[in-house]
Amino acid sequence: MSNTLDKLHIDHRNQAKLLQMVERQAEGVRRGEELDLPLLQLALQYFQNYPDLLHHPKEDALYERLVARDESVAQQITNIRQDHLRLAAETDAIADELSRPYLTPLDLAGRLQRFVDHYRSHMTIEEAELFPRARTLLDAEDWAHVEAEIAPAVDPLFDGAASSQYQRLFTALVRGGS
Ligand SMILES: [Fe+2]
Ligand SMILES: [Fe+2]
Repeated sequence: MSNTLDKLHIDHRNQAKLLQMVERQAEGVRRGEELDLPLLQLALQYFQNYPDLLHHPKEDALYERLVARDESVAQQITNIRQDHLRLAAETDAIADELSRPYLTPLDLAGRLQRFVDHYRSHMTIEEAELFPRARTLLDAEDWAHVEAEIAPAVDPLFDGAASSQYQRLFTALVRGGS
């Protein structure tokens, strides 16, 4: 049993809630509703400040240990680590587009939906293939190494009281709406 893996799994559950909110916004546009740009900006800010800065580096440290134990996943791990960079670049690009909306609302909605789909398929590979393998193959020493590599991360949205910066986003997620 690994606490690191459990925490990464909780992160995924939380990221899924954010993605659902982003998807609801994109669907709303197709029904003629307006995008809630400030709320989406907060969501993108969160992806920049927690998954990109802390969740993905922790996974990278884990994947380094995993490939040392099982060379057969080397290509898959190269791909998923490159995907962390792509996700970060996509997040930055969308955050920029939201703050200076030069796309039409429908184009923006399409962009948001692709972002959601990309994130979900990334997490599915991790949850279905890489995490179970890590749970089986990594030992206590590996986990200690992964933990030592990256400082303990506090999630500013979901760990305890959301920081004031994210209060509105937190409230929207609790309500299950936007
Ligand atoms: Fe990842
Ligand atoms: Fe992940």
